[in-house]
Amino acid sequence: MIIQKQNGKAVPMQNSFKEKFKMVAKTMMGLEEVLADELRAIGAQNIECINRAVLFEGDMRLLYRANYTCRTALAILKPFAQFEANNDQELYDQVYRIKWEKILDVDCTFMIDSTTSGEIFTHSYFAALKTKDAIVDRFRRNFGQRPSIDTENADYKFNLHIRDNQVTLLINSSGDSLHKRGYRQAVGLAPINEVLAAGMIKLTGWQCNTNFYDPMCGSGTLLIEAAMMAMNIPAQYYRGDRFAFKRWKEFNLGEWKSVKQEEDRKIGSTDFDYEIWGNDIDLNVLSQAEKNLQFTKLHKDVMLFNGSFEDQDPPEGRTLIVTNPPYGERIKIEDLNAMYQQLGDTFKRRYGKDCEVWLITSDFEAMKHIGLKPSKKIPLLNGQLDCRFLQFELFEGSLKENRAARSTGASPVEEGDTGAQGDTGVSPVKRGSTGASPVNDNGDTGTLPVNRNTGASPVNRNTGVSPVNRNTGILPVNRDTGASPVNKSTGTLPVNRSTGAKPVNNNE
Ligand SMILES: C[S@@+](CC[C@H](N)C(=O)[O-])C[C@H]1O[C@@H](n2cnc3c(N)ncnc32)[C@H](O)[C@@H]1O
Repeated sequence: MIIQKQNGKAVPMQNSFKEKFKMVAKTMMGLEEVLADELRAIGAQNIECINRAVLFEGDMRLLYRANYTCRTALAILKPFAQFEANNDQELYDQVYRIKWEKILDVDCTFMIDSTTSGEIFTHSYFAALKTKDAIVDRFRRNFGQRPSIDTENADYKFNLHIRDNQVTLLINSSGDSLHKRGYRQAVGLAPINEVLAAGMIKLTGWQCNTNFYDPMCGSGTLLIEAAMMAMNIPAQYYRGDRFAFKRWKEFNLGEWKSVKQEEDRKIGSTDFDYEIWGNDIDLNVLSQAEKNLQFTKLHKDVMLFNGSFEDQDPPEGRTLIVTNPPYGERIKIEDLNAMYQQLGDTFKRRYGKDCEVWLITSDFEAMKHIGLKPSKKIPLLNGQLDCRFLQFELFEGSLKENRAARSTGASPVEEGDTGAQGDTGVSPVKRGSTGASPVNDNGDTGTLPVNRNTGASPVNRNTGVSPVNRNTGILPVNRDTGASPVNKSTGTLPVNRSTGAKPVNNNE
């Protein structure tokens, strides 16, 4: 469909497949630029960022591709009618004139989301109601039957957008929001939205050329999004067939299959050779992360550790650390300020100059207790919560000492250290490629990559035993059995090396 104005009347028309048309990609506040980059990378043209959305142009293949690959899009909308309306009756008449039977069948369901601004249409709900009435009246009069409304699971979702007297109708090509990736088998108390998680990683400028670590990983969203990026797995690889455009009358199965195959062929093409680690204090939540990883078949590429963040080192070598600590909203922590102070201490004591740390929080008071000055503060929304996504650059000494030394020209860092980090903050340290490919060659049912170094599950590469938390001696969740973390070599539960205490055996 394209917009064709005939004497002010809107007539939706079928596109030829190569024809270019305007689209709107919806996203979250603060992610507009990263989404624009994603769209540019797949060939979108005339890109323009607006509030929580990106306008762009492309053909129907691009619409399919944007839905399948864009990690920071919530929905791809296609405008199909645009007209003026100066009152309710004009809105009704214009909507009535649209050849809805070319879009909808009488036995389908639909819903209308609306946003209005200006002085003519002051109630968006009422404008949506008028629009719905016009659609069903046209069907009833012409065909004796009408499609039904379904606000939960409609076959067709329309957006009505009115600004003053300018009305635009758009069709949602995605259906369910694209944050529903399809890999969540289980969630913790406060899982982060998948689009936000992907957007945060993209905002760090990560080029998949360092390790990745989330010290409070919960159900593993950031880990899975990072692993998917690292292995070039399309954003909607696990979503199955749940795209609204597949129900459209103009849906072209051959073109869709060809777009999907092109993207699936890229899986594993990045030759990623770094570690992705997660840690959480809550073993139940960690087992949810494990379930999600098992589902994605990424469980052999991501190591999980059970313990408090201050007891766990990040992987060796350059590491991007991105985390979503409790804000005290959904997860209650007795003393959040003390926790954030401990976080800051851990950054300074344990992470060091090889690490770049980013965290998101809505607790601006607790944030001050980190005791480090963030080098970047990006406003983001997590649900309704006003958050800041903070970057901390770490040096050998304290940040203050390093900054002071740099401004006086002295070198506060060890020889060989690059000191301050730029926008992307990471400089690639490649440990040597192992060559094996993480490609899923079997389409949707195939297996995803095994550990590229060993070909095996993520046991310690030197000792052959599971990755013990270096300080607490606690083993991570056993990925094969889901059972308590028994040392695979000795068959015994690991003892905390410092205290001599045994970790909790969940099966007891
Ligand atoms: C907001 S949630 C993270 C949610 C996660 N991003 C997801 O998508 O599921 C915060 C997590 O921090 C964990 N946590 C709280 N205190 C911790 C500590 N001292 N050490 C490690 N993890 C901790 C909680 O168990 C919880 O899973």
